[in-house]
Amino acid sequence: MSVKSSAVAHSNIALAKYWGRSLDQNPDLNIPSNDSVSMTKYGIRHGIHLQTRTAIAFSDAYEEDRAILEGVVLSRREMERILRVVNPLREYANIDCRFRMMSRNDFPTQAGLASSASGFAALAIAAADALGVELSKEELSTYARLGSGSATRSIHGGFVYWYTGDSHETCYAEQLCGPDDFGMSVVIAIIYGGKKDMPSDLGHELAYTSPFNEVRIKRSQEQAREIRKAILDDDFRKVGEIAEENCIYMHAVMMTSNPPLFYWHADTLRLIKSIQKMRKDGLECYFTIDAGPNVHCLCRPEDLYEICKMLEKAECVSKTIPARPAGDSYVTKEHLF
Ligand code: PMV
Repeated sequence: MSVKSSAVAHSNIALAKYWGRSLDQNPDLNIPSNDSVSMTKYGIRHGIHLQTRTAIAFSDAYEEDRAILEGVVLSRREMERILRVVNPLREYANIDCRFRMMSRNDFPTQAGLASSASGFAALAIAAADALGVELSKEELSTYARLGSGSATRSIHGGFVYWYTGDSHETCYAEQLCGPDDFGMSVVIAIIYGGKKDMPSDLGHELAYTSPFNEVRIKRSQEQAREIRKAILDDDFRKVGEIAEENCIYMHAVMMTSNPPLFYWHADTLRLIKSIQKMRKDGLECYFTIDAGPNVHCLCRPEDLYEICKMLEKAECVSKTIPARPAGDSYVTKEHLF
């Protein structure tokens, strides 16, 4: 037997964030302690679409599983995460042959731009398709989650809600509305394109060491629901205000973990101040920051290029990536090998 499939998935930016796994569940399942909400992103400049393209082939002729990301053969730890997605799908399909996987991002890997989100979403879609496993998008999202929590949301385009649930099956993501149904865009201000010191999959384990985490979980659950309502009510201001608050709660927990995690650089704070000033001066925009130093600036679609220009004025910004809501992730016939 020999089959091959490829998929393209987009990264996403969380508006209400996932930080820390549920203590009541098997940690390998990446079941979060609170619901989260995101916008799936499609980059629209410099050929950076914020996408991962992944090809996977299963064949009797292969003697071992092998995965290559950005031309580099994956290490054991990284391979374990790939297997967490592929093994249950192989079992589901009742197919026991080895695979070759190749994956490429069109944006910096591991710099807080959610490369694991698009990466594991593309892997789940490609592997399920190659193995002939027919799943709904919600079911696919549960397999993507086994590689990386935020990948759960990258299966869908537009604006997405990820339920904590109370089991593997009930912890899935659904689309709240399509890419054209809510008027929001985002500019990513890159101040540092290198790798971060602490990958988020390890950071999640530290959330519980912060005395503020209980409060963050409770408030994040409310914020996720408030943002969902604000998106469906087409209330951009409310989404922005709550997204900022939620981001600060998450970083407060990171900074007060043991050991403390400082994903921000000095320039991150500089940009927060610039965004606050832009807002005060009448250009409505809001910040949010994932597990890295770069800043996402949420804005109305019509202000996208103005926001890019304003952020590029800051000396610390090496590049801006404007993005609008993406469509769903998809299977493609354009294979990497
Ligand atoms: O999916 P992970 O393990 O890379 O975690 C993502 C964590 C954040 O990006 C900080 C927040 C989120 O919900 O995407």
